[in-house]
Amino acid sequence: MSVQRTTATGGMETSFGFRQVGEGDKQPLVDEVFHRVAGRYDLMNDLMSAGMHRLWKEGLVSWLNPPKRGAWKVLDVAGGTGDIAFRIVEASGRNAHATVLDINGSMLAVGRDRAAKAGLEANTEFVEANAEQLPFADDVFDAYTIAFGIRNVPRIDAALAEAYRVLKPGGRFLCLEFSEVDMPLLDRAYEAWSFNAIPRIGQIVAGEAEPYAYLVESIRKFPNQQNFAAMVATAGFERVTWRNYSAGIAALHSGWKL
Ligand SMILES: C[S@@+](CC[C@H](N)C(=O)[O-])C[C@H]1O[C@@H](n2cnc3c(N)ncnc32)[C@H](O)[C@@H]1O
Repeated sequence: MSVQRTTATGGMETSFGFRQVGEGDKQPLVDEVFHRVAGRYDLMNDLMSAGMHRLWKEGLVSWLNPPKRGAWKVLDVAGGTGDIAFRIVEASGRNAHATVLDINGSMLAVGRDRAAKAGLEANTEFVEANAEQLPFADDVFDAYTIAFGIRNVPRIDAALAEAYRVLKPGGRFLCLEFSEVDMPLLDRAYEAWSFNAIPRIGQIVAGEAEPYAYLVESIRKFPNQQNFAAMVATAGFERVTWRNYSAGIAALHSGWKL
């Protein structure tokens, strides 16, 4: 696959998967994808990643280590159906309060239903808004998380600047995203799986392949670990580091607002 990843200097705002689109055109296309997949999103996540997304998400939650006592608020951006938020709340012994923010009402509707079924309504709230322009005051959250969301946001630098703004001094930024695989053999197998199997599974399970082709392509366009770390640091975060999961299929970036 000769598709070039974007770098720390930009390019994601005008790439919709492998397609070049005009400025301002990406977000509506992304929204359409998630309106279409919302109902099957959680099932497809399990099928597409062979359940691996659960381990990676658990990795995020354990690195975050949410406290079991004291007021503590996390903002989970591009939180979709609430998967990360629910895990954080449970890991805190239902102490944490999680705000799930997403631009897509269809994804949030699934999340609200899941929160109600799990009895997590008191610990969660759902906000429909854009990661590039958060409807919160400065310095209000103890942690900001975003999982498999940032590559869908057109202006990543704007989203990172907003993450920095709404975090309290001392607050933690954690971003889980698909990244660059550092084992060539595994990368080839992963590529074959991604480009052949995933759209087919989408066709069979959800009745359409196209949205899943976008999800796979957008992974290949997203900046690699080093370049994304540079973007996080440029937004003002300190002690920026990352850890790879499954040889870099996913990477978890961490930074602090100090
Ligand atoms: C792949 S899903 C991830 C959902 C969830 N975080 C998870 O890990 O299961 C990506 C989410 O990003 C959301 N999204 C895309 N652009 C966004 C934006 N500009 N602001 C907020 N959310 C956005 C989509 O609506 C979608 O719910």
